[in-house]
Amino acid sequence: MIKDYQVEITENRLVSGITWLLKFKNREIASSAKPAHFVMVRPTPEHQYDPMMRRAFAIADVVDDEIWIYYDVYGRGTKSLTEKKVGDKINVLAPLGRNLFPEDDFGFYLLVGGGIGFAGLSLLIKKLKQEGRPFKAIYGVRRKEQLSMLDWIKENNLEDDVLIYTEDGSYGEKGLVTRDIGQILEDKPNPVIFTCGPKGMMKAVAKVASQLNVPCYGSLESKMACGFGICIGCVVKDTEKDTYVRVCYEGPVFDMSKIEL
Ligand SMILES: Cc1cc2nc3c(=O)[nH]c(=O)nc-3n(C[C@H](O)[C@H](O)[C@H](O)COP(=O)(O)OP(=O)(O)OC[C@H]3O[C@@H](n4cnc5c(N)ncnc54)[C@H](O)[C@@H]3O)c2cc1C
Ligand code: FES
Repeated sequence: MIKDYQVEITENRLVSGITWLLKFKNREIASSAKPAHFVMVRPTPEHQYDPMMRRAFAIADVVDDEIWIYYDVYGRGTKSLTEKKVGDKINVLAPLGRNLFPEDDFGFYLLVGGGIGFAGLSLLIKKLKQEGRPFKAIYGVRRKEQLSMLDWIKENNLEDDVLIYTEDGSYGEKGLVTRDIGQILEDKPNPVIFTCGPKGMMKAVAKVASQLNVPCYGSLESKMACGFGICIGCVVKDTEKDTYVRVCYEGPVFDMSKIEL
């Protein structure tokens, strides 16, 4: 059930480039969080309303009762989040998102994350690893400094499971996340692709998936004001039903072949 929680910050620090790691403790959110769930964080203290809207962030990890969020600093909301200190209280609406990654028994899972979008897949990576399912993850960025979850990958012993691609070749493989998808999936039975990241990247991943005739599900990020279906601010076009759907309520995960980005 969605609830408005007041939680205490346990960590908030710059990890690399423009990316910060925010942690807070809450047993209920921790026990209900599933891959693709997200939270809406109020960037202002109680009774202050500028900036007013909450900001949406993926639940990137859950460690005991602690929720981890990786956030890129762009505008006023995320800037004011960087000013929060350990011990400060923030308001968090959680858990949000109703349509999550499909739980079907696929033969092989390929997770493709771009930039901060990797934080939308990391909880699923841990789950697949724990369940012993066959998978590989691809983490792509422009250059090495943007690999803000590299430490997380190392801390969780996932170096062999996550293939890293940089556009300038400064770390891992040189090239785009789509470069080797065909090769990775070549001999895999009943594969599926899950993706999260910038629009252009998700479109490119969906195109490769369609060429390979592999199902592809994306966890979408669109501008959100409410996060739970009321404001209609986050819609994308469902091309199959020829209607608009709310990313926060009918998503955030959609079959990429049925959505117009
Ligand atoms: C499901 C989901 C998961 C996400 N996960 C992550 C993540 O893990 N890490 C990450 O870095 N980013 C994530 N994002 C993107 C993140 O929410 C935006 O980068 C962040 O909101 C930008 O806030 P800002 O204060 O920097 O920018 P600003 O430009 O100040 O604010 C933009 C945001 O403010 C809100 N907003 C402000 N005014 C209005 C208005 N009038 N009407 C509607 N909305 C308004 C919207 O949420 C909009 O996205 C996610 C987005 C979604 C939807
Ligand atoms: S953010 Fe308000 S309906 Fe989706």
